Amino acid sequence: MKKVRKAIIPAAGLGTRFLPATKAMAKEMLPIVDKPTIQFIVEEALASGIEDILIVTGKAKRPIEDHFDANIELEQNLKAKGKSDLLALVEETTNVNLHFIRQSHPKGLGHAVLQAKVFVGNEPFVVMLGDDLMYDSTPLTKQLMDHYEDTHASTIAVMEVPHEETNKYGIIAPEEEVKSGLYSVKNFVEKPKPAEAPSNLAIIGRYLLTPEIFSILENQAPGAGGEIQLTDAIDTLNQTQRVFAHQFKGQRFDVGDKFGFLKTSIQYGLTHPEVKDSLKDYIIELGKELEATNEK
Ligand code: UTP
Repeated sequence: MKKVRKAIIPAAGLGTRFLPATKAMAKEMLPIVDKPTIQFIVEEALASGIEDILIVTGKAKRPIEDHFDANIELEQNLKAKGKSDLLALVEETTNVNLHFIRQSHPKGLGHAVLQAKVFVGNEPFVVMLGDDLMYDSTPLTKQLMDHYEDTHASTIAVMEVPHEETNKYGIIAPEEEVKSGLYSVKNFVEKPKPAEAPSNLAIIGRYLLTPEIFSILENQAPGAGGEIQLTDAIDTLNQTQRVFAHQFKGQRFDVGDKFGFLKTSIQYGLTHPEVKDSLKDYIIELGKELEATNEK
């Protein structure tokens, strides 16, 4: 059995839900307190045992590349001023085995993943969406890799969502719960209307895929929204080899969505040693003020 060693992080979308902030900057670089979103994803990959990471970038390629590169001038400046704690923070992003490829036209997530065909070769790999943060005691990517050890099959992370929101996600039609939280799947549907959705188990931003997905993606016609959809290719893959769905029970934050971004910033802020106490006091005060306004 081939080991899962490689991860792809698609970060080439237009980020229209975050305009105008994303006019000249990838949404994956938006900071959660003091750390760009994409750095959390890279950290999840490393904590899961991934060795090589390919980031698919688009128009705003430079800031992402620069963030994971050495910044000699800044490092020298921090060293000269004796700011060793800040220096450590700046240097910790430079020791990762990172590669970059450009998706010149954002034709959809499936098309972004296809750009990684040569990088991946004939190995299983993971896809980690650059704007979806997951929290659990075991990283979600590692949970998928653990299933792969048993099944040697593609496994997609899913999570329950409110039924009225199925049209925002890829949704699975589960077949059988083969073991706790692991389902075989009848089919995968991209963004079904609530009335047509086969379940409320939505595909979230972590996928473990076998390399056979690439030949399917090469011939994949545009689907929902006129984009080349990864979900459609996974549905085709499921017709020739088993694809499982793993139900994630941890916390997920969609950082590409305004409200999701605000919630993530608050949650992370409440654990951040520098700001957690003042943020907590501020939230309590704000709560009182809002309550008083409501009572008027
Ligand atoms: P989204 O659908 O959330 O990203 O794609 P988007 O299209 O940038 O966002 P909105 O809806 O316009 O606000 C999920 C992930 O896939 C990447 C995105 O960067 C994001 O991390 N993606 C999407 C690509 O890399 N290429 C694409 O063509 C589309």
